[in-house]
Amino acid sequence: MAIKLAVIPVAGRGTRLIPLTKSLPKEMLPVGRKPVVQYVVEELSRSGLERLLFVTGATKTAIENYFDLDVELIDHLRKTGKEDLLEELAFEKADLQYFYTRQRRQLGLGHAILCAESFIGNEPFVVALGDTILGVPSKANIVRRMIEQFELKKADAVIAFEEVPESEVHRYGIAAPVSLRDPEVFRLARIVEKPNVAEAPSCLAVASRYVFRPSIFGYLRDTKPGKNNEIQLTDAIQAMIADGKKVYGVRVLPEEHRFDIGNFGSYFDAFLEFALADPDHGEEVRRKMESLLNKG
Ligand code: UTP
Repeated sequence: MAIKLAVIPVAGRGTRLIPLTKSLPKEMLPVGRKPVVQYVVEELSRSGLERLLFVTGATKTAIENYFDLDVELIDHLRKTGKEDLLEELAFEKADLQYFYTRQRRQLGLGHAILCAESFIGNEPFVVALGDTILGVPSKANIVRRMIEQFELKKADAVIAFEEVPESEVHRYGIAAPVSLRDPEVFRLARIVEKPNVAEAPSCLAVASRYVFRPSIFGYLRDTKPGKNNEIQLTDAIQAMIADGKKVYGVRVLPEEHRFDIGNFGSYFDAFLEFALADPDHGEEVRRKMESLLNKG
């Protein structure tokens, strides 16, 4: 059965990006020409997803406005002879349905996903974090590959992983693969949330994309608050694994590198790379950067 539903959690407060995120959702921060969340939606659309549920919070209404059809703006562009700009708004007409629900208290990512339970019903679904871009524009195909593996292996969950330096394992959920005979697709023996280096079973870090059967909701409901006193998705996945469920990892390709727009370092990194890749301005940006670096 083709997977058509995706949940995009965007309810986190983004405290690591204060003051930017005081009134602006981090998912709306510009990376090159577009806000972060538009890349996420385009990636899902390319992978065949059709119905997208955003789990939002009080400071996130800009996201709903962004994906709305702005008839007045379209009219204005037509009347003022700026039809060429209509192309930039083509995403408004994509064959996607948008849904929104509120996570009324920020109790963690696991809890945010639980807010989607009645929307999802009995179908398998994708989860894509709204603050993470995979690959410089239009490169990532990871969700499609994850869905293929989900069906092929009759899995209960498939998770994207990216190898990170040892110094970063404390930031992510880290996999313990059963074996790495096939390093691209592997079954999970264990998953640990934000371990310190000594406890990390590998350097394979969760890369913000997941495919789940609805059975995940039962595990989420039984999950007690963990790290940071939040209901951790990783803890629910670990409970699935401990229960003998089939949980697989799929590795992202180098060109699907994760840009986590949750901290300034990674955000600046993403902006620079996307600005350099811009078809009209990339060259100019490169020259400017070179001249700035030569001055230093
Ligand atoms: P983060 O770990 O980045 O947390 O969330 P955060 O609250 O957004 O940011 P900081 O730590 O305060 O800077 C990872 C993902 O989980 C979602 C976020 O929106 C992000 O996509 N999330 C997190 C929720 O939807 N609800 C929550 O209660 C927590």
